[in-house]
Amino acid sequence: MEQEFKILIADDAHENFAQIICDEMESSAKARGTGIAKRSPDYIKQKMHEGKAVIAFTKDNIWAGFCYIETWSHGEYVANSGLIVAPPYRKSGLAKQIKKKIFNLSRQKYPEAKIFGLTTGLAVMKINSDLGYEPVTYSELTQDEAFWAGCKSCVNYEILMSKERKNCMCTAMLYDPKDHFEPEETTKDFKEHSKLYERFMKIKQWKLLKPFLKKETNGAAKPKSFLHFFLNT
Ligand SMILES: CC(C)(COP(=O)(O)OP(=O)(O)OC[C@H]1O[C@@H](n2cnc3c(N)ncnc32)[C@H](O)[C@@H]1OP(=O)(O)O)[C@@H](O)C(=O)NCCC(=O)NCCS
Repeated sequence: MEQEFKILIADDAHENFAQIICDEMESSAKARGTGIAKRSPDYIKQKMHEGKAVIAFTKDNIWAGFCYIETWSHGEYVANSGLIVAPPYRKSGLAKQIKKKIFNLSRQKYPEAKIFGLTTGLAVMKINSDLGYEPVTYSELTQDEAFWAGCKSCVNYEILMSKERKNCMCTAMLYDPKDHFEPEETTKDFKEHSKLYERFMKIKQWKLLKPFLKKETNGAAKPKSFLHFFLNT
């Protein structure tokens, strides 16, 4: 049975949780071996103050998750960023509930905006897909320099720049209020093909990493062949 959580629009009363949220974001990124756009507790508090964040608690008022809204290109684009679920409460449907709440809040605050996200995580891809997001190329995203500056603290920034910001390890997904699949349709289709999608992601990552692997191994230990990778993943 799914655990019950309280999912709230955050406000000033929650600012004491800003530090624990930042700490969890940082340690989760380290555990995943990825980088993240650095967030300070003050930045999180500001989001709470502006009513642009969602916070989740257990029934016993233990902090369980968080996410916030960012706007780019003068409000033409919105990103639902900084999604984090505290480790004890993962895989119980909480991220899905938080994303739904922040998505609805974004739609209410910015009805004309395109909502987008960049992620390497299958969980987030599944949730986004259920909400009506579709995979897109980076050219469909905001070109706001301030957004892309957030990638500087990512371990894959060198790859992003070597691809002239056209591609990287993250999959870009976008919800266009004027042009999107109906969620029911998308959910069914995505669930049926999620294994295929996982494999597609591995292929994409392998292809992007290839030049870097070659550079590192310098001919000593050759990277595995594409076929080997494909058949063994
Ligand atoms: C990613 C994260 C937010 C997922 O939170 P969660 O509460 O465990 O996710 P949910 O339980 O709502 O799961 C949503 C879906 O993803 C799936 N899922 C969850 N974790 C997964 C994982 N690690 N790998 C693959 N699928 C996963 C679930 O099975 C569920 O699929 P379904 O709709 O087919 O049932 C959480 O693991 C986390 O905080 N990770 C660290 C921070 C992070 O990666 N943030 C995202 C940055 S883009």
